[in-house]
Amino acid sequence: MQFLKEISGSRAFIVSDAIMEKLGYLQQAICYLKEAGIDTTAFTEVRPDPDTSVVTEGLKRFRESGADILVALGGGSAIDTAKGILYFAWKLGDDRAFHKPLFIAIPSTSGTGSEVTDFSVITSDGEKVCIVDDYISPDIAILDSTCIQHVPQRVVADTGIDVLVHAIEAYVSVNATDFTDALAEKAIKIIFEHLETCYKNSEDSAARDKVQNASCMAGMAFTNTNLGINHSLAHAFGATFHIPHGRSNAILLTGVLEYNSNLKGSADGYAAERYAQLAAVLGLPARTHREGVVSFIQAVEQLKKKLDVETSIRALGVEPELFERSLESMAQSALADRCTPSNPRQPTKEDLIQIYQRCYE
Ligand SMILES: NC(=O)c1ccc[n+]([C@@H]2O[C@H](COP(=O)([O-])OP(=O)(O)OC[C@H]3O[C@@H](n4cnc5c(N)ncnc54)[C@H](O)[C@@H]3O)[C@@H](O)[C@H]2O)c1
Ligand SMILES: [Fe+2]
Repeated sequence: MQFLKEISGSRAFIVSDAIMEKLGYLQQAICYLKEAGIDTTAFTEVRPDPDTSVVTEGLKRFRESGADILVALGGGSAIDTAKGILYFAWKLGDDRAFHKPLFIAIPSTSGTGSEVTDFSVITSDGEKVCIVDDYISPDIAILDSTCIQHVPQRVVADTGIDVLVHAIEAYVSVNATDFTDALAEKAIKIIFEHLETCYKNSEDSAARDKVQNASCMAGMAFTNTNLGINHSLAHAFGATFHIPHGRSNAILLTGVLEYNSNLKGSADGYAAERYAQLAAVLGLPARTHREGVVSFIQAVEQLKKKLDVETSIRALGVEPELFERSLESMAQSALADRCTPSNPRQPTKEDLIQIYQRCYE
């Protein structure tokens, strides 16, 4: 975070949350900026899964501050809020008068990769909406793994699985390239090798560094490829039942792998081939596509178990009647999600309902 001492400008607006303030990271950032001769206004009202009201309030305070630097300090929720503020300051302002601030992101979770993506996820009227625009990509990302030292254990698991899903979805995306494949493969290898250690021992700084790198690499991959239906389904499910983003992704992952690879059918399409390649990258049996898919799914299941992830939506405490009643609208919203078009297999609404149902029990 010391890199903040090297920044030029006159006033910084920091978007963060109460936990970052309590843990002293906010004060640390303010001190470093002060050493660079930069005054600070802090906005610490970010809540998990930020909604439009937080962005509106942040936008008002950002405009009042007159800042020429925007710093996001926190998890994906803080970084996405800062991106929302930047987006609407640009879109709703007078073009001639608005000068884009220098945008710096300092992630405090290893999960979203939001520090390097052009994505922001904001909740509007109970639905998660993705804003996707190059304009909101941070200019500078500062990776400082001391910032992720005190992440609660359950959040380490959630955010780590989010990294895994970003990398898998980038790898099977219809937009995947050799470059994004390289980033995704490395991120997946790191998650399988180091996430469990990170989860079980927060003092292991080497494992923390590795998982933080994987998070950023997976972000670099998926900002170029877009994501897939794991995220579409997770956005609708998480917003409906207030389940953290990473956990929502984790619960749906096996159902999505089975659907995309058509495991109950021929298991010989593009996604099956790609999952089998990932199995081979991990050194798992993959003599046929089907064998590779099965090996990969088993490895994912074992990892989820080591991270104490619930095995079904029911185990998360979601009531069956409420779940049944929500299926139609969740599937509708997942179908329209911006992540769906890049999925390797184009689903119908009924397919999406079936994946939800498969993951319930
Ligand atoms: N922009 C993107 O590309 C992208 C990608 C995936 C997900 N998302 C979105 O990001 C959000 C989730 O972000 P997240 O998973 O990073 O979680 P988060 O930012 O919501 O943080 C989860 C909890 O952990 C706390 N926390 C964060 N850092 C901490 C630290 N260092 N020490 C102690 N506590 C800490 C937070 O205060 C919060 O209570 C969701 O809204 C999701 O939809 C965005
Ligand atoms: Fe995600």
